Amino acid sequence: MSGGAVPGFARGRRLRSTPALRRLTAQTRLAPADLVLPVFVKEGIAEPQPISSMPGVVQHTTDSLRKAAHEAAEAGIGGLILFGIPSEKDAVGSQADAADGVVNVALQQLRADLGDELVLMADLCLCEYTDHGHCGLVTPAGVVDNDPTLDRYAAVAIAQAQAGAHVIAPSGMMDGQVAAIRRALDGAAFQETPILAYAAKYASGFYGPFREAAEGAPQFGDRSTYQMDPPNADEALREVAQDLAEGADAVMVKPALPYLDIVARVADAVDVPVSAYQVSGEYAMLEAAAANGWVDRQRAVLETLTAIRRAGAGTVLTYWAVEAARWLR
Ligand code: PBG
Repeated sequence: MSGGAVPGFARGRRLRSTPALRRLTAQTRLAPADLVLPVFVKEGIAEPQPISSMPGVVQHTTDSLRKAAHEAAEAGIGGLILFGIPSEKDAVGSQADAADGVVNVALQQLRADLGDELVLMADLCLCEYTDHGHCGLVTPAGVVDNDPTLDRYAAVAIAQAQAGAHVIAPSGMMDGQVAAIRRALDGAAFQETPILAYAAKYASGFYGPFREAAEGAPQFGDRSTYQMDPPNADEALREVAQDLAEGADAVMVKPALPYLDIVARVADAVDVPVSAYQVSGEYAMLEAAAANGWVDRQRAVLETLTAIRRAGAGTVLTYWAVEAARWLR
């Protein structure tokens, strides 16, 4: 047959033939404002400390964090999420809600420096602050004790809001944590402070490098009794529904790439903003492959971020936030 349209098949290639056509027809867009940078601030260090398993990521001093925050604002990203590493840890994580605790001091400084230019999120958990490394209080028998932990989370939420956090992001996976934090914030005149719930957070092997970065590895056992079990999907929808019923303003799925099915299902199910956290192990894995020349780094990074957006996340928490924002400009 010659000339004319050939019946029987569609010519999908028509819309792929030039970069301009592909750009015009792209269904998913990635913008700097979609990205949030997780940052670590450590007490008692004079210089930023590299994290060996996360090349390019550091534990900041309060000063180096201020500089990094200015750069992040210049790059146009959406916000920062802060993790603190105190010099002194104890069984109850006292430094998490101490007004002069490292993360609260850093929040105060960044809020004073930047005002509302970047959304400052405070990760709310105890694992970086407890000597046993668990996300909650622990009974003498070594069980993570749900309900007493809620009182600690309530106190930490108030301290973080007082320090200047725009958003409180509880990541400890205790039952009832969102309700407890909402009640505490409302009672302390922070009715307008939103809660981004780490609603569907899985007990993941991909958090390995973060435990070096945040120095919060559990000293015994693991987090499987409170974080979600990787085989489960319907349970993520229950966790999300429960957190919304308790007053969450936005929800998160974590990790991101191995859980894109969960991101998609949650995004379909809810009408609040959905975030996904591209975690330390996802970062380390791709950096290692790129360092070996096995993947094109920039291309692969942008592809992962696009995939997470395509699955339905509006916001992506990623250690590549600033670099990716510069590529996107
Ligand atoms: C604290 C917390 C963790 C991460 C974010 N918040 C560690 C954990 O649950 O063990 C992981 C982030 C990452 O791996 O990048 N609960």
